[in-house]
Amino acid sequence: MKILMTTSETVPFAKTGGLADAVSALSLALARLGHAVRIVMPRYFCIDRTKLEQLEGPLGVRVGGGEEWCAVYTAELAGSTKKNPVRVYFIDYERFFGRDGIYGTPAEPDFLDNALRYTFFSRAVFQLCRKINWYPHVIHSHDWPTALVPVFLKYGERNGPFADTVSVLTIHNLGYQGIYSKNNYYYTNLDWDLFYQAGFDDWNMMNLLKAGICSADKLTTVSPHYAEETKTPAYGFRLDGVLRQRAGDYQGIANGIDTEVWDPQHDPYIPLPYTIKNVQIGKAAAKEAIQKQFGLSVNPDIPLIGMVNRLTDQKGIGELFGPTYGCVWSLCQNIAMQMVVLGSGESWCEHEIRNLSARLANFKAQIGYDEKISHLIEAGSDFFLMPSRYEPSGLNQMYSLRYGTIPIVRNTGGLADTVENFNQDTGAGTGFMFDDLTPQAIYNTVGWAVWAYYNRRSSLAAMQKAGMKHDFSWKKSAQQYEVLYKATLART
Ligand code: ADP
Ligand code: GLC
Repeated sequence: MKILMTTSETVPFAKTGGLADAVSALSLALARLGHAVRIVMPRYFCIDRTKLEQLEGPLGVRVGGGEEWCAVYTAELAGSTKKNPVRVYFIDYERFFGRDGIYGTPAEPDFLDNALRYTFFSRAVFQLCRKINWYPHVIHSHDWPTALVPVFLKYGERNGPFADTVSVLTIHNLGYQGIYSKNNYYYTNLDWDLFYQAGFDDWNMMNLLKAGICSADKLTTVSPHYAEETKTPAYGFRLDGVLRQRAGDYQGIANGIDTEVWDPQHDPYIPLPYTIKNVQIGKAAAKEAIQKQFGLSVNPDIPLIGMVNRLTDQKGIGELFGPTYGCVWSLCQNIAMQMVVLGSGESWCEHEIRNLSARLANFKAQIGYDEKISHLIEAGSDFFLMPSRYEPSGLNQMYSLRYGTIPIVRNTGGLADTVENFNQDTGAGTGFMFDDLTPQAIYNTVGWAVWAYYNRRSSLAAMQKAGMKHDFSWKKSAQQYEVLYKATLART
């Protein structure tokens, strides 16, 4: 099959979260199954043009009343096989993408012209196919920035050379929908009656993700558990009704992880690579490295709890670090443990974390994004904490399991699908889980894990092994997408 991924992020070119990892890894896995996979994304300012190859001639894209002229660059995706490489196309347009930031900057988190930027990009996708004379069987879009692609396909583009193309839209995070003033609808060049018919309408605003959900041939999200949750008001971000309506075309397919980048046996960022056979030695070396690097007391026998995250409400940061009610202060005061955090995000939270770091000897943090340290934390921590409010898939808990680091997670979304709660009677399980997102529940569950560290060492060793044996490779997920694509093509 010819498959075109349309996305706003792809590793290694541009990344704000797991979406970028998922698109790149899924594309490579599909190519390994023999499909012809291409990716199209914007050429952001951070992507060095001199390292790309330029296609000849401009690309004309209709938006609103006029036509914008842009350039197209291309490169091969790293990790591609020689036999069947994945090609990435970059839409290069100074006015929309020639600036710092992907969706925004700290000063302007959501660029004022984002509706226009991604409407333009979604239209450009079709023009690109015309230019390179390559018409995919499947156009696979991801999240709100490219949710207009299935809309444009259904309402207009399918009348031309895309007659046999089907669309799949994957929801990586329902919390971000692309809701803008309906004045922006003008840029779509669609008739006004379609504003309602195609599902744009959202209390008199324009909702890009909602239109995509109503228009795509098939919908997926990144774990089966999250697919169920999103059909309920508690997790549906007001789109649960639309998702229930489309339930027959909506399924969860679990993400995998890049098992080459995240492999304790061949990890260049850890002091002593390890396998399941010498896990204790490898982890002890990494733990010591963290303790030294972060200025914690060097002690192999104290449980170390790690965390690597975007510091946003989704990740439970209020319950952890909220002034006066967050539980980290009392955890670190009352329990014989250490904690390290790597993350960046909301400024109040960064501030609180710096405060805690200064006042507690057993809590240290690094604010910022750091690939290398994230590997070290995954390897050297005894436990990895992820108390997410919601988690469509989550990648870090899978990295943890692969590195023999026991996850402590909230029982939600992809966390619920990948971690099995510790059963104290049988010793079974791969992690520690709790249901309610409250500071007390986090406190109690971390307390339980620390208790097990001191009193149930052999159970923890068995849990580590069970986690490390799990297969989180993308191959399985890619095969599920393959089945879905085929079924969609067969039906239309
Ligand atoms: P989300 O996409 O919601 O942020 P995921 O768990 O899917 O959550 O993916 C997050 C990805 O970003 C992981 O690969 C994680 O290691 C990485 N990451 C997040 N914050 C940082 C950071 N401060 N430094 C390094 N890597 C980070
Ligand atoms: C989103 C979700 C995260 C998921 C990632 C990749 O960013 O928040 O849970 O792992 O997308 O699908």
